[in-house]
Amino acid sequence: MAGEIIPFSRGGNSNWRLINAPNNATTMPSAIIFNPFIFPFLFFLISSAVPTTISLDYLLSDCPDTTTFSSNSSFQTSLNSVLSFLSSNSTVQSGFHKTTVGDGGDSTVYGIFLCRGDDTEDVCRTCVATAVEDVPVKCPNRKQAIIWYDVCMIWYSNASVDYSVPISLWNPDFITNNVTWFTNVLDDTMNKIVLTAAMGHSGKKFATADVNINMLRKLYTLAQCTPDLSFTDCYNCLMECIRQLTNCCSERQGGRVLFSRCNIRYEIYPFYENAAALAPDTAPAPATAPATDLVAAPPRPPAISKSISQWHQILIAF
Ligand SMILES: *[C@@H]1O[C@H](CO)[C@@H](O)[C@H](O)[C@H]1NC(C)=O
Ligand SMILES: *[C@@H]1O[C@H](CO)[C@@H](O)[C@H](O)[C@H]1NC(C)=O
Ligand SMILES: *[C@@H]1O[C@H](CO)[C@@H](O)[C@H](O)[C@H]1NC(C)=O
Ligand SMILES: *[C@@H]1O[C@H](CO)[C@@H](O)[C@H](O)[C@H]1NC(C)=O
Repeated sequence: MAGEIIPFSRGGNSNWRLINAPNNATTMPSAIIFNPFIFPFLFFLISSAVPTTISLDYLLSDCPDTTTFSSNSSFQTSLNSVLSFLSSNSTVQSGFHKTTVGDGGDSTVYGIFLCRGDDTEDVCRTCVATAVEDVPVKCPNRKQAIIWYDVCMIWYSNASVDYSVPISLWNPDFITNNVTWFTNVLDDTMNKIVLTAAMGHSGKKFATADVNINMLRKLYTLAQCTPDLSFTDCYNCLMECIRQLTNCCSERQGGRVLFSRCNIRYEIYPFYENAAALAPDTAPAPATAPATDLVAAPPRPPAISKSISQWHQILIAF
């Protein structure tokens, strides 16, 4: 599967911007359309100079077809229990749950969901419910799977050790001005939020920060680990993300690296909820000029590519 390009499903893209793409509204997952938490976005449309983008859009899945189980097997039964435990725990404050069903034998299933740190309870619950429903569709009869959405992910496996390999996504557009400066600001900010996330305030290992790149533009960054990781595991996992970022996303306007236990992302437009951002050094969003600049030049949706590399496996015991 190395290098495979995964198309977006549902005609959506991860950079869904309600404010710029009203014509595409019919392609949104129904979960968004009919849920009350959409109203904060409507509020943003009307009142906010800097719109925040949050969507339940499906990003991609990875489920090796070498690991399959047969329907009605005891593995299926265990998996069903795991998925139902993940669903029923999706309102927990930490936005995270891990569970094991089985006695350690062949039909044992390990499972995790992780919601993005700024998700409201509604967003998290809806995203996990969607993910659980999508498992048999995206990864039919697979013993190992990871499914990513913008605001949550689920992972399960027959193995307790996570052989997660990095998945990279990037914006096809490049930074054109003052590239060295941009890269320095990005490195600096990433290194800071990786530490903040690893230290894990508020029961989450999550940090965001936005910084000025110049008078007109800001850089928005995010780092997150599953909160069960130690400081060291989280830190090492996120540093691996940063290393991967230089492979996939150098000089890009946006990039992400996703492991099952940690992930980072940056964009030059806001994509997380400032209100719920936990990083202590997060500056308030500016009320004036930058928004105009950002909206005038909306970023294109990112290309998606998976980089599978044996040398960059992150091994974290369950
Ligand atoms: C699975 O079990 C159900 C109920 O026992 C049965 O109706 C169905 O045909 C079985 N499916 C397979 C693929 O064996
Ligand atoms: C959460 O999952 C655990 C298993 O990991 C299960 O025992 C528990 O009942 C679930 N909690 C809720 C509220 O369903
Ligand atoms: C998981 O399943 C695959 C495919 O059936 C198998 O090769 C592997 O040994 C299993 N891993 C564990 C820990 O059971
Ligand atoms: C790059 O941007 C910074 C911050 O706006 C500025 O101080 C610096 O002079 C710029 N460098 C160039 C070569 O434009």
